[in-house]
Amino acid sequence: MSDENGHKSQVIGQFTQQAESYARLTGSMAGGEGQAVFSVLVQARPGDVVLDVCCGPGTMALDMAPYVAHVTGLDLTPAMLDQARAAQVKRGVDNVAWREGDVYALPFADGAFSLVMSTAAFHHMTNPRAAFAELVRVCRPGGRIALRDVTPEADKSAAYDRMEILRDPSHTHALTRAEMAALGEGLPVGAPALHASVAADLPLEAILAASFPEACSIAELRAMFHEDARSGEDRLGFKARLIGEEIRVSYRQTTAIWVKQ
Ligand SMILES: C[S@@+](CC[C@H](N)C(=O)[O-])C[C@H]1O[C@@H](n2cnc3c(N)ncnc32)[C@H](O)[C@@H]1O
Repeated sequence: MSDENGHKSQVIGQFTQQAESYARLTGSMAGGEGQAVFSVLVQARPGDVVLDVCCGPGTMALDMAPYVAHVTGLDLTPAMLDQARAAQVKRGVDNVAWREGDVYALPFADGAFSLVMSTAAFHHMTNPRAAFAELVRVCRPGGRIALRDVTPEADKSAAYDRMEILRDPSHTHALTRAEMAALGEGLPVGAPALHASVAADLPLEAILAASFPEACSIAELRAMFHEDARSGEDRLGFKARLIGEEIRVSYRQTTAIWVKQ
């Protein structure tokens, strides 16, 4: 099996296990401020035909649906798409369709969408430049390509990746903001508009409930976060804080928006 196919199996394995708990975690943020801000930042319009790449359980796609004409959510992991279909029925949204597929070979014609988005997914890419080039290909001239992902500070990047790979072996590398901004170089897009934000402040236990580590136990992960929170030094890059008995973590994220030329 090639490294690329090995990694895809790793992604499907992880997200099949994570599907239910991840859907619960992101479903609790559905319709929240983070999603609303995203729709405003990308200037979602009633005529937009949207592709949400790596849509997972469909929370962002379903949140985007009321603002646009149609959304297609694409993901590699069938179990995630099952969660997305269930959420669609529960939320009574009818202008969204789901498609199984791979970001590196999107099953759509050039310029098929006016808005192409992907959130919380590029840190699973083995080749983010090739993946981004596919997002650009399926966007029509004048359309927007929007990425949102965790972007650790450059000096925390290696520590963050080490911890995330332990927690979720399908993690590859969380781009820094500068690396994200550089994705469009050499492609037919303008300079990106960059928006910094801190993703929801989450209890560590909610994240551990959606974690399936292979090289260590959940108890060992918990102990590492406890030690980091007690040190006050943020050596793991998660801004882990002890509040009473609870550890809370937060993520520095960036939304980058390009216009296709
Ligand atoms: C952390 S989830 C993010 C889901 C959703 N976008 C969100 O914001 O909550 C990452 C998703 O990326 C998908 N994924 C990873 N690699 C992929 C690839 N090569 N092609 C398509 N989907 C992929 C996984 O199956 C998973 O559902």
